[in-house]
Amino acid sequence: MSLLIKPLPCLLLPIIFILFSSTLHSTSHGAPSADLHSQTNHIPGAVDESENGVVGWGVRRSVLENSSTLAAQRTRRKDPLNNFNYYTGGWNISNKHYFASVGFTGITFFLIAAIWFVGFGLCLLLLCCCFCCCRREPYGYSRAAYALSVILLLLFTVAAVIGCIVLYTGQGQFHSTTSETLDYVVRQANTTVANLENVSDYLAAAKSIGIDQVSLPTDVQNNIGNVDNEISSAATTLQSETKNNKKNIEDVLDTVGLALIIIAAVMLLLALLGFLFSILGLQFLVYVLVIIGWILIAGTFILAGVFLVVNNMVGDTCAAMDQWVQNPTAHTALDDILPCVDNATAQATLSQSQEVTYQLVGIMNGVIANVSNANVPPIAPQPLYFNQSGPLVPFLCNPFNTDLSNRTCAAGELDFENATQVWQNYVCQVSSNNTCTTVGRLTPAMYSQMINAANVSYGLYHYGPFLVGLLDCRLVRETFTAITQEHCPDLKRYSMWVYIGLAMVSAAVMLSLIFWVIYARERRHRKYTKLVNAQHGDHDDSFGEKRP
Ligand SMILES: *[C@@H]1O[C@H](CO)[C@@H](O)[C@H](O)[C@H]1NC(C)=O
Ligand SMILES: *[C@@H]1O[C@H](CO)[C@@H](O)[C@H](O)[C@H]1NC(C)=O
Ligand SMILES: *[C@@H]1O[C@H](CO)[C@@H](O)[C@H](O)[C@H]1NC(C)=O
Ligand SMILES: *[C@@H]1O[C@H](CO)[C@@H](O)[C@H](O)[C@H]1NC(C)=O
Ligand SMILES: *[C@@H]1O[C@H](CO)[C@@H](O)[C@H](O)[C@H]1NC(C)=O
Ligand SMILES: *[C@@H]1O[C@H](CO)[C@@H](O)[C@H](O)[C@H]1NC(C)=O
Ligand SMILES: *[C@@H]1O[C@H](CO)[C@@H](O)[C@H](O)[C@H]1NC(C)=O
Ligand SMILES: *[C@@H]1O[C@H](CO)[C@@H](O)[C@H](O)[C@H]1NC(C)=O
Ligand SMILES: *[C@@H]1O[C@H](CO)[C@@H](O)[C@H](O)[C@H]1NC(C)=O
Ligand SMILES: *[C@@H]1O[C@H](CO)[C@@H](O)[C@H](O)[C@H]1NC(C)=O
Ligand SMILES: *[C@@H]1O[C@H](CO)[C@@H](O)[C@H](O)[C@H]1NC(C)=O
Repeated sequence: MSLLIKPLPCLLLPIIFILFSSTLHSTSHGAPSADLHSQTNHIPGAVDESENGVVGWGVRRSVLENSSTLAAQRTRRKDPLNNFNYYTGGWNISNKHYFASVGFTGITFFLIAAIWFVGFGLCLLLLCCCFCCCRREPYGYSRAAYALSVILLLLFTVAAVIGCIVLYTGQGQFHSTTSETLDYVVRQANTTVANLENVSDYLAAAKSIGIDQVSLPTDVQNNIGNVDNEISSAATTLQSETKNNKKNIEDVLDTVGLALIIIAAVMLLLALLGFLFSILGLQFLVYVLVIIGWILIAGTFILAGVFLVVNNMVGDTCAAMDQWVQNPTAHTALDDILPCVDNATAQATLSQSQEVTYQLVGIMNGVIANVSNANVPPIAPQPLYFNQSGPLVPFLCNPFNTDLSNRTCAAGELDFENATQVWQNYVCQVSSNNTCTTVGRLTPAMYSQMINAANVSYGLYHYGPFLVGLLDCRLVRETFTAITQEHCPDLKRYSMWVYIGLAMVSAAVMLSLIFWVIYARERRHRKYTKLVNAQHGDHDDSFGEKRP
């Protein structure tokens, strides 16, 4: 091993170590290793994986800037936990007042459900009593009332059918948009995992730079190994969390979708059967349906309220994500959940990684220029002379200039992709004392060191921006931007369809149910009047009866 090359790894590794230890430091507070971090010191109250969707971050941001509220206007609502004062904390899923105030938006439907349940229950009771105890002679039949009740009954049944259609369509669209959004997030997570795994591979390569020639300081090796382990275990955690959360969320979505389909079908059946039975005058069945409908309607009103709340929360979250993307410097509730480092730190890390790439390539090219390609006389000591001969080894293209601006490769320079193959052609065979016995300018040992170093430089060059993007949440911002632009409008629209559908169905079935009872009564009165008239032989035309 030449003396000149020997110090190469020793020179590089401290630089790499400095970079990686700073990266290690930042990543240990950053996204990739969030789960590791939360395993080692579980902060009570820190947001858990399940609470914020697919990815568990779980670490708090250390840099505190100005606090500001997200979606403050949208979330300004009455807060029942705080004497119905307006809630001003903005979108903040760690705040119970937020949930109370957004939950309170469904109050209209919850109240209607309660009033209906109690009020109609009392009516039913009263009706029952009247029916059983104080059996009055039914009188007061009027053709107009009868006709009106038929028309309204028909109208409300049609409205119920339309409501069912809206509900069914809305749930279908809601289900497919939520699935699409979920898939998008999972794809992003999958890409991140794939990148992290690749980074981890490159780090493993970095650890083995010159490993058989020079013994690396063990602490440097350990440090690289630690970063590597952390990154690969973060990747594993991210992957398994993604898989679990995806499955759980899909199960919930499927269940909700199925429940909504069943509700739509049952309400449709109820409305149609009720209509049919009351037209046919099957009183007993009508009353059975009335009891069933009474309970179902209370349930669907509550569901409508729940979906109104969901619709509001979807809107809040979309607005919050949008604002967060647009105001990267403000400290918001999302920054409590997402562990982003500030821009300056991220930029510093990025330029450090570029610096290391620049240095590594520079050192390799220095070795090529001053050792491999040098035609030193055989009297020179072994580090410089190892009987190198033949065509000159091409240089590796340095992607950066001294000031770390982008550099365009000169003609004949190799890029990272083909350096490994091309340099292979310049390797000579060596004797036992590491001297070339055939034409060539690189000994196998030199070659393996060079490609390792090239590999590490490439890894840093290629994945540096990705790692920095994880650190400063650029990737998260991109994901949020795509979600707010492509998925939010549909999510908001279709969750609205679902609650409007539910409200329509509930109201229409509620009214038609009332008219089943009214119509049944009118029908009874009509029959009775007819009977009385027949007994008296009284053909009053005002009753409009034409007997068969
Ligand atoms: C923080 O808030 C103060 C006063 O509200 C303001 O003067 C200052 O510019 C803000 N800083 C940032 C970084 O937004
Ligand atoms: C994400 O990765 C998992 C496993 O690697 C795979 O099963 C799944 O299909 C991928 N999902 C997407 C949306 O690419
Ligand atoms: C990871 O590396 C493999 C092989 O080097 C490559 O095919 C793949 O595209 C890389 N993945 C990403 C996300 O860069
Ligand atoms: C460079 O690193 C990648 C990822 O670990 C590996 O697949 C590849 O074989 C390495 N190339 C060389 C020449 O070591
Ligand atoms: C969110 O709510 C929690 C709990 O009330 C609070 O500690 C935190 O400061 C809030 N975050 C913001 C950004 O207002
Ligand atoms: C971060 O800083 C760089 C330059 O220092 C600037 O170009 C970039 O726009 C900044 N990004 C954000 C999100 O502030
Ligand atoms: C070769 O070595 C000389 C003297 O050590 C140095 O000045 C020069 O920069 C080296 N060449 C390269 C390409 O590094
Ligand atoms: C440098 O090159 C990279 C990759 O090709 C590119 O993403 C980046 O924008 C370039 N930077 C400048 C300042 O041109
Ligand atoms: C290596 O790749 C670079 C850039 O693609 C190209 O300019 C160069 O000719 C390639 N060298 C060889 C020997 O293929
Ligand atoms: C290395 O070995 C060769 C023969 O295999 C010999 O000619 C040469 O002088 C030796 N060089 C050194 C530096 O020992
Ligand atoms: C030096 O290399 C040449 C081929 O370029 C070879 O013929 C010769 O035997 C080598 N000398 C020694 C001492 O190995």
